[in-house]
Amino acid sequence: MSAFDFFHVSDEERARALAHAQLAAAQAASIPDIPSSTPLRRVQRVAVIGAGTMGGGIAMSLANIGIPVTLIDSNQQGLERGMARVQDNYATTVKRAKLSPADMAQRMALITGSLQIADAIDADMVIEAVFEDMELKQGIFRQLDACCKPGAILATNTSGLDVDAIAAVTSRPQDVVGAHFFSPAHVMKLLEVVRGAHTAPDVIATLMNLGQRMGKIAVLARIYPGFIGNALFRNYTREAHFLVEDGALPNEVDAALRKFGYAMGIFAVHDMAGNDVGYQTRKAQMATRPTDRRWNDLILKLCDLGRLGQKSGKGWYRYDAGDRTPHRDPELERFIVEESARMGIQRQPMDEADIIKRCLYGMMNEGAKLLEQGIALRPSDIDITYLTGYGFPAHHGGPMFLADRIGLANVLADIRQLHAQYGYWWQPAPLLERLVREGKCFADLQQGR
Ligand SMILES: NC(=O)c1ccc[n+]([C@@H]2O[C@H](COP(=O)([O-])OP(=O)(O)OC[C@H]3O[C@@H](n4cnc5c(N)ncnc54)[C@H](O)[C@@H]3O)[C@@H](O)[C@H]2O)c1
Repeated sequence: MSAFDFFHVSDEERARALAHAQLAAAQAASIPDIPSSTPLRRVQRVAVIGAGTMGGGIAMSLANIGIPVTLIDSNQQGLERGMARVQDNYATTVKRAKLSPADMAQRMALITGSLQIADAIDADMVIEAVFEDMELKQGIFRQLDACCKPGAILATNTSGLDVDAIAAVTSRPQDVVGAHFFSPAHVMKLLEVVRGAHTAPDVIATLMNLGQRMGKIAVLARIYPGFIGNALFRNYTREAHFLVEDGALPNEVDAALRKFGYAMGIFAVHDMAGNDVGYQTRKAQMATRPTDRRWNDLILKLCDLGRLGQKSGKGWYRYDAGDRTPHRDPELERFIVEESARMGIQRQPMDEADIIKRCLYGMMNEGAKLLEQGIALRPSDIDITYLTGYGFPAHHGGPMFLADRIGLANVLADIRQLHAQYGYWWQPAPLLERLVREGKCFADLQQGR
């Protein structure tokens, strides 16, 4: 495959990448068909449904800018746990002297707990953050449709479900929108605003503005599985897992990713998040997924072996009690080698540049598909999503910016080679082929630069 030095960035290139990120953050706010003069809806009171990890963080983000919140859960225990987590998070900030006790008290006073969805009746906006389950979310939106005041914005924090299918159960799809926050929601800078087929322009404008008021970068996406961020992330993790089946060990993949600039490799991230995240959904999908392409189920097998990650002391690595440092685990490595043999794969040593290419080029190719379908408005929106929500190394400027630096013709040549070698998942994006044919780069698609 073509040569590119992923591990060295000159000072000048670094400065260019940082300038690109700054411009990208500013440009994300501009939406061609929604003028900045669009009158906003009033957001003086918000209800958050689901007091879990996300709901609590979202409530804090709102209280931090002085907006009163009703935090609603369906059970007393869930609500108490959620309120306690909010209290603990604020207390930690006070301990670090980044918040005064008086400010903490003021913010806590803005968050009221409730067990009744009907308490969303006064809200100008509702943000739903219950479990990732379509039927559950549709049930909540039916109730919201029945009780919320006319013109209230009804947002869902789904990580990737079809927002239109949620809107469809209401009599007011124009008021329904995706508000995809990232965890921890009171810390992470990214907010993906997901525009449904019927979402009203002023709903989009209001949510983008609210995100900015919270100190976040709001990026507009259209409906697509995983929107912008998780759509690319699927490609990233898929290849990392195939690499392990094909010959690399988790620590080798992680070492290459860290050398590229990520703070953590993907397998260490899995172990931190818990390998069982999404286990049920993936298991359920196995029965109906297409059989004409390669899948990898190693992570499910790790769960079946009790290797859930840090919380169980072992996952892709092993952990000593009370210590989060990942250590290589011969037992896991033996298991991986046996799995490759079981699948009939002749393991090959992997060069670190090839590891990076397989992890990144699928993201760049997917990014081109998102641009072509209008899921993302511009390449820099994909870059800023990655820089602010997915830990992409800042000095590389984001996946699309990096693709331009490598040269799209080089990226496409390697993708074609990977397609010939590995098939289905590497089908080159038509937009990428067209740009190369026309001698253009992603930056040529940017409006107003
Ligand atoms: N955790 C993440 O990293 C993350 C990131 C982005 C988006 N999301 C999405 O956010 C949503 C919530 O995820 P989470 O991790 O906060 O989940 P969680 O399990 O921590 O919390 C969900 C909460 O919803 C409550 N709940 C369930 N049914 C309810 C109902 N009928 N009415 C009111 N409350 C109800 C539960 O009691 C629980 O407290 C999901 O859609 C998820 O995909 C999660």
